[in-house]
Amino acid sequence: MELSPSLLLLLLLPPQLAASEATPEPCELDDEDYRCACNFTDPQPDWSSGIQCMVAVEVEIRAGGHSLDKYLKHADPDSQQYADMIKALRLRRLTVGAARVPARLLFAVLRALGYSRLKELTLEDLEVTGTYPPPPLEATGPALSTLRLRNVSWATGGAWLAELQKWLKPNLKVLSIAQTHPLALSCEQFRTFPTLTTLDLSDNPGLGERGLAAALCPHKFPALQDLGLRNTGMETPNGVCAVLAAAAVQPHRLDLSQNALRATANPGGPRCVWPSTLSSLNLSFAGLEQVPNGLPAKLSVLDLSCNRLIRAPRPDELPQMENLILDGNPFRDLGDPKPQQDTMNSSVPLACVHSLLAIGISGTLALLQGVRGFV
Ligand SMILES: *[C@@H]1O[C@H](CO)[C@@H](O)[C@H](O)[C@H]1NC(C)=O
Ligand SMILES: *[C@@H]1O[C@H](CO)[C@@H](O)[C@H](O)[C@H]1NC(C)=O
Ligand SMILES: *[C@@H]1O[C@H](CO)[C@@H](O)[C@H](O)[C@H]1NC(C)=O
Ligand SMILES: *[C@@H]1O[C@H](CO)[C@@H](O)[C@H](O)[C@H]1NC(C)=O
Repeated sequence: MELSPSLLLLLLLPPQLAASEATPEPCELDDEDYRCACNFTDPQPDWSSGIQCMVAVEVEIRAGGHSLDKYLKHADPDSQQYADMIKALRLRRLTVGAARVPARLLFAVLRALGYSRLKELTLEDLEVTGTYPPPPLEATGPALSTLRLRNVSWATGGAWLAELQKWLKPNLKVLSIAQTHPLALSCEQFRTFPTLTTLDLSDNPGLGERGLAAALCPHKFPALQDLGLRNTGMETPNGVCAVLAAAAVQPHRLDLSQNALRATANPGGPRCVWPSTLSSLNLSFAGLEQVPNGLPAKLSVLDLSCNRLIRAPRPDELPQMENLILDGNPFRDLGDPKPQQDTMNSSVPLACVHSLLAIGISGTLALLQGVRGFV
């Protein structure tokens, strides 16, 4: 079979499946031949428009919710011609979104991309259907440094990361997983990620400490430096600390922002020992009224901005703090005499409210607004 000189999903498409000229071009390539974006929302999209993306470095393909089942039978990354074509691509960053994709097709695309020099892959708004293909004998997919998944659902369940990992050359440095189902990662099934420095689980509001304990597979992330847990339904800093300790994860930077945190867990109970590596902790937008107990003693950055702190932290609460960020807390404004109308507004600084609205954290916003009653 003669394969169409096109890309990815398109690269599995023979020309006869491409619709004839219709409406406006779904794909657009910029003047520098650098970025190409396709939006195949049309019911009968002109898939062949994707051919112009072949020269681009950054490609974004949104498939308009189309099911790609019918293209499965054309996946054939075995021909030399096909391999040579993919080797010639300049492609480094790829986003594939808004489609129903059989797992077999997705993995066939990964295998094809093994011939490319792709570095960053983002999968967004995908419904992955069907069962996984048999695993490869060795990793024949791309040597990705970054893999991002947002709103991806896997019909076959919890082993998806293990299945993906079997195809990827072990080079991954950044892994980001948001709004993905299921989020439980089948720890025993996947191998260590030896080079992974950033694990971002932000924007999984249902995760919570329990989910985190299941996701942070012990000893699978030995090189981890950045752990992102923004907007993940965490309840207390100490609870997170306990999960990190149990998983033997030692991040340098931890983002707990945009969680509705309670300052203390289990008061009087045993204190959790934070990883000694931890140098930066983000507790902004967390609805905190007081500085939580038992924070790591030695931090170079602690972000407590946009909380409900009604007094400045005492020196003994944060003994060795070097860079403390306290903007957007009511005590700052209560301390300064100000015209009345100003004080009303500044209990929740506009900057904080705007960012909260932008990120849609209405629960936290309600918490923050609660403080107005105090003023
Ligand atoms: C794709 O096109 C549709 C219809 O033209 C539009 O509504 C939608 O916002 C576009 N999506 C993106 C991501 O540009
Ligand atoms: C998530 O992806 C599905 C398609 O799999 C889509 O229908 C849905 O609108 C997406 N949700 C969000 C919040 O974007
Ligand atoms: C902390 O998180 C907030 C919101 O998620 C972000 O705007 C801020 O830049 C972060 N702070 C630091 C020091 O990175
Ligand atoms: C809050 O500030 C905004 C803009 O700075 C102003 O328009 C508004 O009237 C203020 N509200 C109150 C209650 O002072």
